Amino acid sequence: MNPRSRGLQPNFQARFPSGSPGHDGYTSDPFPVIVARGSGPRKWDIDGNEYVDYGMGSAALLLGHAHPEVVSALSAVLADGSHFGAPTEPMLEWGERVCTLMPCADKVRFVGSGAEATMLAMRVARGYTGKEKIIRWESHYHGWHDYVMPGNLPPFDVPASIGIPQGTIDSIIVLPTDLTALENVLANDDNIAGVITEASGASYGTVPLPDGFLEGVRRLTRETRRGDDHGRGYHRFPVGARWRSGAPGCRTRPLYDGQNSYWGPTRRSRCRP
Ligand SMILES: Cc1ncc(COP(=O)(O)O)c(C=O)c1O
Repeated sequence: MNPRSRGLQPNFQARFPSGSPGHDGYTSDPFPVIVARGSGPRKWDIDGNEYVDYGMGSAALLLGHAHPEVVSALSAVLADGSHFGAPTEPMLEWGERVCTLMPCADKVRFVGSGAEATMLAMRVARGYTGKEKIIRWESHYHGWHDYVMPGNLPPFDVPASIGIPQGTIDSIIVLPTDLTALENVLANDDNIAGVITEASGASYGTVPLPDGFLEGVRRLTRETRRGDDHGRGYHRFPVGARWRSGAPGCRTRPLYDGQNSYWGPTRRSRCRP
């Protein structure tokens, strides 16, 4: 059924770590199917087999594969160039649209991937609070940078990769999705900068959060107010995930994918009201 995909497996293994040219999710046992093209909700492999694509680019392809309007819009702009190292008018429109779609976002920073967005969100939280530790939930996925490898995969008491500095591991507190566990940590550790959450529940919501969990996290992080060196308390506790609609007090600063950049919060941005 998949002779060409099977036949290419040794070549992928020889060229790429784990045999995967990208995400680890591209690997599968005994071999992944090699995709040739997609259209709408379907894709076809290089052996001509047709699939209904339930993955949809890790849920990024809201309009399906190769939607005609997306193809047409991209084709139209490609001829003008695509990387100028400078702002463009469409970037402004894109940023404005993001803020319109997400009323809790008043400013946007474009970065190159979700992993960079979560890394930057953690840096912003640390910079803003002057605290160092981030609380995260077991098996929630936030990319693959050093700060999110602890707790990514079971067993949760060791990082999902070797090569992570101990100082980084020590700055991450991995908890089960249990409000009592959160309450205990907040009560006993005054060095918490933020909580990061896969707001849908782990693995794109396939492991749903307990009812009222997000609201409970928000309540606890608001209630745990300790004055700090900068005269701020946890009423401005940053949370690196957008609350599901209806959750109270959304004050997050979501970060979106786009052109990669170096950026760090300065003292000025840190003191922003
Ligand atoms: C909730 C969440 N955060 C972060 C990431 C990492 O995004 P990226 O693969 O673009 O680095 C993902 C990717 O699936 C994700 O689902």
